Amino acid sequence: MATAFIILAAGKGTRMQSDLPKVLHPLAGAPLLVHAMKSGAALDPAAMVVVAGHGADLVEAAAKDWNPDAQIVVQSEQLGTAHAVAQARPALKDHKGDAFVLYGDTPFITDTTLAAMAAARTTHDVVVLGFEAADPGRYGRLVMDGTTLTRIVEFKDADEATREITLCNSGVVCADAATLFDLVDAVGNDNAAGEYYLTDIVEIARDKGLTATAVSCDEAETLGINSRTELSAAEALFQQNARAALIGDGVTLQAPETVFLSHDTVIGRDAVIEPNVVFAPGVTVETGATIRAFSHLEGCHVSRGAVVGPYARLRPGAELAENVKVGNFVEIKKAQIAEGAKVNHLSYIGDATIGAGTNVGAGVITCNYDGVFKHQTTIGENVFVGSNTMLVAPVTLGDAAMTASGSVITRDVAAGDLAVARARQDNKAGFATRMFEKLKKMKAKKAKGA
Ligand code: UD1
Ligand code: CA
Repeated sequence: MATAFIILAAGKGTRMQSDLPKVLHPLAGAPLLVHAMKSGAALDPAAMVVVAGHGADLVEAAAKDWNPDAQIVVQSEQLGTAHAVAQARPALKDHKGDAFVLYGDTPFITDTTLAAMAAARTTHDVVVLGFEAADPGRYGRLVMDGTTLTRIVEFKDADEATREITLCNSGVVCADAATLFDLVDAVGNDNAAGEYYLTDIVEIARDKGLTATAVSCDEAETLGINSRTELSAAEALFQQNARAALIGDGVTLQAPETVFLSHDTVIGRDAVIEPNVVFAPGVTVETGATIRAFSHLEGCHVSRGAVVGPYARLRPGAELAENVKVGNFVEIKKAQIAEGAKVNHLSYIGDATIGAGTNVGAGVITCNYDGVFKHQTTIGENVFVGSNTMLVAPVTLGDAAMTASGSVITRDVAAGDLAVARARQDNKAGFATRMFEKLKKMKAKKAKGA
């Protein structure tokens, strides 16, 4: 049966103290909302509906950027979680199968937990995700009778005895979609907050002769983000888990606490990551590659056996083939570097292709921008680009060509040719000695006069 996801993301998030809607604050390089959208991905959802409100245009753009098939519905007034779910009804009118309710500010729900809820659906009509809270605080309480969930009581509406319950409501719910919408429609707002509580669907379901149960997960999974303090704690937790997962998969992190990963970082077995490396989104590092200290990588691919850094910057579109070397203070952007090529010192390579076995000397720059347009540099195989060559794009160096160091190359160089593009050297015999003597005399004269 197909599964749909309804992600509630209409709230303002006042406690973030931000102009940006809460669900768009980034965690590990992706908006919180995207983490919620990714949670469900393993269940291969047939539909994904995001309920937006505050900053709906921005929320829509972020949701579609991640998943162009995501549907956005707008809840213009936030009248409660049941009211929010009801907004998804038109978008899911043709959906046959279950629907999960997730939250745009709750990024850590695992696919294992969602699968456990789906499994519990085979025996119960409504499944709620709960957790044993270390400090139950203001969470809704799950009232159980054996394996039956009898009702959920919001903290504000709970009596002393109910407040003693430590099994709390995460808010995540699963039911047949049509059933869920019928239940939600029956919810009223006669409660302490005057809101339409999604939690009321449990009692309503049971009154209709349907069954409900709870599945439990670790409290850390249900962590919701309401403030920047919680966001930074969530970031720390994400990093800790992601580093541990990589280490478990056979990656060497020499100083794990100094390596920063993104939600989508992929690193192969036996890769070595030295201290103080930042992986921005979109990075794949293959097995056996080495990323040396203080490098920053984003939107790039590093193949087997390549060595990057120390102090290298790989920007989006950097494609390093096997055994490539990119050394210190080198920036690579939108460039394919073929097998075994070396760019070892102080270079900028952008909008370029570099052939296999080519050596790019220290300080070489592809001058790719004329102030208006970007232009391409094409370098063949086994080329020797002399130190401090300026390659004024568009320009091509043929296979096994060579440029003299210090050259400013503005015309193509054919295969096997040497290009020298700098002023010819002129040595003037004895000139330096004569000049220094003259200057020293001038200085002595001045000192006397003063
Ligand atoms: C809710 C649950 C509570 C649970 C807690 C877990 C209800 C009534 N209560 O309480 O049992 O312990 O979550 O964190 O469901 N939202 C909308 N539109 C609305 C209202 C809310 O999109 O009209 C979104 C909010 O942006 C927020 C989420 O739903 O991300 C939860 O809403 P909130 O009002 O914060 O519910 P809680 O009081 O935390
Ligand atoms: Ca909340």
